[in-house]
Amino acid sequence: MTDLTTILAGVRFPNPVFTASGCAAAGQELDQFFDVTALGGVVTKSIMLEPRSGRATPRMAETPSGMLNSIGLQGPGIDVLLDKDLPWLAERGARAVVSIAGGSVADYANLASRLRDRPGLAMVEVNISCPNVEDRGQVFACDPQAASGVVSAVRRNTAPGIPVFAKLSPDVTDIALIARACVDAGADGLSVINTLLGMVIDTTTMRPALAGITGGLSGPAIRPVAVRCVWQVHQALPDVPILGMGGIRTGLDALQFLLAGASAVSVGTTVFGDPTAPVRVLAELEQALADRGVEHVRDVIGLAHGAAGHLVPEGPDPVGDEPAAAMEEP
Ligand code: FUM
Repeated sequence: MTDLTTILAGVRFPNPVFTASGCAAAGQELDQFFDVTALGGVVTKSIMLEPRSGRATPRMAETPSGMLNSIGLQGPGIDVLLDKDLPWLAERGARAVVSIAGGSVADYANLASRLRDRPGLAMVEVNISCPNVEDRGQVFACDPQAASGVVSAVRRNTAPGIPVFAKLSPDVTDIALIARACVDAGADGLSVINTLLGMVIDTTTMRPALAGITGGLSGPAIRPVAVRCVWQVHQALPDVPILGMGGIRTGLDALQFLLAGASAVSVGTTVFGDPTAPVRVLAELEQALADRGVEHVRDVIGLAHGAAGHLVPEGPDPVGDEPAAAMEEP
């Protein structure tokens, strides 16, 4: 079988399938369905400094091949994560990727320093792209300078051996520009992508379906957007590791992200319908790689970029086979 080991900014993970932030709390709920240590990593729901109840309900709506959420960063606050969730993950032997979110650069810096030197912490994911915040000015990932300010503060306050990944938003004109700003500010890698800002209107009440009006769109509907973003970021920054996510439901979906340039993937929304999805995706990915004769998962990372020519059977020489006149309209 294929060697699934993947390395993200110098840290070795046994395989490239992780949970996605916001879809599995801190892993305890999923552990009743499968052993979470079987995954490459467990990405926790974005945590803020203080407990937070989030936005008003209703805050979830179904969409074609996806869902819209306006949770609003509900969570117990960093103290509970440090006292309960992170120790649980560490005792289990899971590799914890802690996602942090704040309303200011100081919040992020404070969160990073609270996480410093905590056992079990494998990586920090900086959520600068949650669409469900009070104002768009807090979506730091929509502006290169704002993104840079947060990332450099987190990097400064995080232990050197712990990678800092910035989570990007697809709701920008040029995602590579934001990616580069984050890397220049010290990000060791990038999580690509967060949800897309969306909206549903209930035609019975004739009002927005979500109390928060807008929400983040996730699920298979966004997969082509996510693959495109991974592709563009990898093309611009081929040496920067990417944790890819957005609508992954099968092993072949995961393979698309690896081929586009991701070194690992997060499985998110699909766990609401199938809590075993992360380990199923892992098994399917392993089989898909073996079927293709891939010896090491690193051999497919970004493969779709360079060598597309050799994967496509060669056709006749396009020049000279047909006289130009033959292609004209009669
Ligand atoms: O509203 C939320 O808690 C979602 C967060 C996110 O998409 O980052």
